[in-house]
Amino acid sequence: MLFNAAAALYALLAVVDLGSAAPASVNHGDGTFFAPGLGACGYTNSSTQHIAAVSKEFFDSFGGGYTNPNDAPICGKTATIHYGDKTTQVEIVDRCGGCKGPTDVDMAPAAFADLADQSLGRIQITWTIN
Ligand SMILES: *[C@@H]1O[C@H](CO)[C@@H](O)[C@H](O)[C@H]1NC(C)=O
Repeated sequence: MLFNAAAALYALLAVVDLGSAAPASVNHGDGTFFAPGLGACGYTNSSTQHIAAVSKEFFDSFGGGYTNPNDAPICGKTATIHYGDKTTQVEIVDRCGGCKGPTDVDMAPAAFADLADQSLGRIQITWTIN
């Protein structure tokens, strides 16, 4: 009887836990901008497109099983980036070898401009993979 009650409680907690699914993890890092070209994902993008490069650490740890970075699972994923009350959406197309921190994002100028004046150069962002 005691066991059944414990099992029932456990099952209930398991259901409650599933019901409150954890939100996608929120990353905090530096946002910068660069002049896009041919990126690690094999796409050629431009400054007016909403694209971004994530740090090499983030790019490499997102998923493996590929030899050609064009096949990296993060390629083509989208991210939502926040700065203050501003928001933008980008497609991940590149690996940022020069980013300082593992959660830094280097954006095309068009995406950065949605968030802040380019004269700021480097801003503190929060972001999630969609
Ligand atoms: C980036 O470039 C690729 C290949 O040219 C293109 O398919 C994709 O739509 C571009 N991304 C954005 C956000 O414009």
